[in-house]
Amino acid sequence: MTDPFVLVLYYSRHGATRTLARHIARGVEEAGIAARLRTVPPVSTTCEAIDPAVPDDGAPYVSEADLSQCCGLALGSPTRFGNMAAPMKYFIDGTSSLWVSGALIDKPACVFSSSASLHGGQETTLLSMMLPLLHHGCVIAGLPYSEQGLHTTSKGGTPYGATHVSGRDGEHPVDKIELELCHAQGRRLGELALRLRRER
Ligand SMILES: Cc1cc2nc3c(=O)[nH]c(=O)nc-3n(C[C@H](O)[C@H](O)[C@H](O)COP(=O)(O)O)c2cc1C
Repeated sequence: MTDPFVLVLYYSRHGATRTLARHIARGVEEAGIAARLRTVPPVSTTCEAIDPAVPDDGAPYVSEADLSQCCGLALGSPTRFGNMAAPMKYFIDGTSSLWVSGALIDKPACVFSSSASLHGGQETTLLSMMLPLLHHGCVIAGLPYSEQGLHTTSKGGTPYGATHVSGRDGEHPVDKIELELCHAQGRRLGELALRLRRER
């Protein structure tokens, strides 16, 4: 029997979404439950592309067991044309057996994203990631407006999930409010994971 954990699963090409993932994981652990950081391999239009067995840097690749055993799930992707990035979508499209077994039913889940520009489609990206989670039976948790940062942010941070505005060339570091909202989202997910686990 594995110890309870929340899976923080992300794809990141340039590192911004990975930074958000690490802060969400910190928030999860503040709630008193372990966070497991995992990523998905890139995809290529050329069939010859072969990924290293272990990523060169960042989190290990996710396994089916990570998903079936987790008590909660945070899913993160850069915004790509207002949608989640193809590697995340490709990975999710391969999770039919988990859907058949109902492995994610009643598990809390949240979503997060990074985009270059403020109005470049963060919220649609977050919504796009919620759809497969709903099909899997997850209980979606956003960010409530009791988080003061949601009222004051002039960059990332939405009620649909934590976000970051990276700038066109990734020149903006994740700012204080964006970080606080990542922690808050992680904490909330961790607390919900513990509470729902007790109910199951
Ligand atoms: C193919 C592609 C499409 C993108 N589409 C958008 C977009 O619709 N809106 C936006 O604001 N940024 C867009 N971006 C920029 C990324 O969302 C942004 O650089 C993000 O911070 C990258 O996250 P990462 O550092 O985790 O890879 C796009 C980038 C790529 C490569």
